[in-house]
Amino acid sequence: MTMSSPEPLLALTNVNTFYGQAQVHFGLSITVGRGHIVCLLGGNASGKSTTMKIILGLVKPRSGEVTFDGASLIGLTTPQIVRRGIASVPEARRLFADMSVRENILMGAFVRSDREAIAQDLDKMLTLFPKLGQRLSQRAGSLSGGEQQMVAMARALMSRPRMIVMDEPTMGLSPLYVDRVLELIRTINQEGVSVFMVEQNASLALEIAHEAYVLQTGKIVLSGSARTLKDDPRVRDAYLGGSEAA
Ligand SMILES: Nc1ncnc2c1ncn2[C@@H]1O[C@H](COP(=O)(O)OP(=O)(O)OP(=O)(O)O)[C@@H](O)[C@H]1O
Ligand SMILES: [Mg+2]
Repeated sequence: MTMSSPEPLLALTNVNTFYGQAQVHFGLSITVGRGHIVCLLGGNASGKSTTMKIILGLVKPRSGEVTFDGASLIGLTTPQIVRRGIASVPEARRLFADMSVRENILMGAFVRSDREAIAQDLDKMLTLFPKLGQRLSQRAGSLSGGEQQMVAMARALMSRPRMIVMDEPTMGLSPLYVDRVLELIRTINQEGVSVFMVEQNASLALEIAHEAYVLQTGKIVLSGSARTLKDDPRVRDAYLGGSEAA
């Protein structure tokens, strides 16, 4: 680290991924610039969630490189990757349903031992997500989908990440909560956290993203600034192409 780093915060370069014999990614290259919100769009089974899993070290690509802040993530465990500064909001939230909201949020701080700062951060989460204040001792499984999404976002922020990766954060939420979640993603980003999110709903994603990539059966078929892609008919086509079942 001798010079200021012009490289992107996150970079996937020429990634090829297989499940057994089946190839899921074909030379995938994606970058997320510092401070940016980047969306990965694509229909069902195009390989979006697998991309998230690669970033988090849950799936190992057969070839290619993944770097965060200039250093390779390949071969690191998920906790090591979290310590480097990446937190996740997984598909379908993945809360511990029988544990309280408080316990679920604090779970995000598992890589930290600074107890006072953790308590302060929990308070901060209640400012960011005021609705959770009255629900701290409630079973997480008893919350609505929108409230669970807030818990999952608060949990992710508790590790003080430099980047959050999210898998379909608005999936299954009521319109009111969709807007709320998008607004919160924007707020989190404005506080300096970069965001990589997977989304099937192109029009929603392009409202808040700086850049986006369109994935079709494991290949990036289109990418660019959200502003340009919003007006591109191919985005709609690519997006609708594989998602009729949704
Ligand atoms: N653990 C696994 N073992 C074998 N095949 C898998 C596994 N996980 C995913 N796949 C397959 O890999 C392909 C890509 O899956 P992935 O979940 O990455 O797609 P996706 O774009 O997130 O889809 P969706 O829109 O349905 O969430 C699919 O064909 C899927 O069936
Ligand atoms: Mg998925």
